[in-house]
Amino acid sequence: MESENQNQPVIEIFGGSTLKGEVRISGAKNSALAIMAGTILCSDDCRLRNLPNLADITRMSQILSAIGVKIEQNGDILDFDPKNIGQSQAPYELVSQLRASFFVIGPLLARLGTTRVPLPGGCAIGARPVDLHVRGLQAMGADVLIEHGVVQASVKGNRKRLTGAKIYLDYPSVGATETIMMASTLADGETIIENAAQEPEIIDLANFCCSMGAKIMGAGTNTIVINGVERLHSTDYPILPDRVEAATFLVAGAITHSEISLYPVIPAHLASAIAKLREIGPKVILDASDRIRLIPSSLKGADIETLPYPGFPTDMQAQFMALLAMSEGSSMVTETVFENRLQHVAELQRMGANIRVKGNVAVVQGVPFLSGAPVMSTDLRASAALVVAGLAAEGKTTIQGLKHLDRGYDDIEGKLRKLGANLRRVNVPSELLSNPASLV
Ligand code: UD1
Repeated sequence: MESENQNQPVIEIFGGSTLKGEVRISGAKNSALAIMAGTILCSDDCRLRNLPNLADITRMSQILSAIGVKIEQNGDILDFDPKNIGQSQAPYELVSQLRASFFVIGPLLARLGTTRVPLPGGCAIGARPVDLHVRGLQAMGADVLIEHGVVQASVKGNRKRLTGAKIYLDYPSVGATETIMMASTLADGETIIENAAQEPEIIDLANFCCSMGAKIMGAGTNTIVINGVERLHSTDYPILPDRVEAATFLVAGAITHSEISLYPVIPAHLASAIAKLREIGPKVILDASDRIRLIPSSLKGADIETLPYPGFPTDMQAQFMALLAMSEGSSMVTETVFENRLQHVAELQRMGANIRVKGNVAVVQGVPFLSGAPVMSTDLRASAALVVAGLAAEGKTTIQGLKHLDRGYDDIEGKLRKLGANLRRVNVPSELLSNPASLV
């Protein structure tokens, strides 16, 4: 519990600077978290490269260590020794802070035949149940009991191995696809996942598993076929670049009317964001196969509806809403993936945005300028939206609640400062935070 007189970190942004230069995009958080859980599947050592420096990654390392995986870190490289997993129970204090920690359920069940994983936590953007994960594991022969907030799963029989199954997902859930895909790599026989999620992070996880000897076909399409193998072997695997971080910087460039380059990126993974940016006005140019450049222009409103990949990502919705708040005309933003993911609206309104919300739809009427204000992060991508809004706003924006931002953005202040933004992280006494007027 934080006491009243403690200091809390905030980011102060002095808006109005034009950005210039190249930003280096880190490894993808969502790929890295699933792949880290996937190391449990391996019977040998594994090396992962290009890991982003994030609170979520540290937390996942702590969860894996608690299970018995030995981990050594050297910069953005992590070495995992999962040979002697001693503990099939993931610790509640850690799992409750990170939804992705639930990903350990599939690999633990596949390796040990039994596991206990507390129901997960994470951003408060909706109910986020795990029924699809559980039903998939049940279809593969697991007995699953959910009691006192803990999911207990076990496989019957001497060999304690899951059995391949045909699994149709009612919704193309990223997490459920990953859980079932990982669990089935060591199952007896063939597993077919229909209506699977098609996100690039699914392909990255499949490529990682295949690099250890798994047999997976169709990742990136809506039907994935996995043929179980006896064991998985050592690998050395680089995580793909983070498309959400890249999109956030594209928005930062667009909203400040700046020309910036991003490297490394996989442009195909940004197709929906790039298409939407072009509709709003700025150009995005391919300078090389892994480098893109944003050419700024005036901004005009556009409608956005979030959808599973290849549709427009829910993880980019908040940042684009900040951009639309300063784009001429009206825009409609419809959130279909999570039921409670418009919490940034109230904070953007504090900065002068003209947005009305009805249900899962936000109607944005562009304004010529935003004004800096004290604002509160409510979830990870909402905090990124406030950062980009602050870059364009007149005067000072003070962002509280940095634990969300730190979960998912690797050195965002350093990267923005290198582009010429005027911002800093400072510690502010808690009593000042309860009096917003003192932060202006
Ligand atoms: C992942 C991403 C997250 C992203 C989301 C959608 C990670 C660590 N996180 O989250 O950043 O916003 O994909 O692209 O990769 N659902 C169920 N039952 C389930 C599972 C999900 O009803 O068993 C629902 C969820 O409540 C939500 C929707 O399906 O409304 C999408 O969730 P899902 O695709 O599973 O997202 P996550 O894997 O949690």
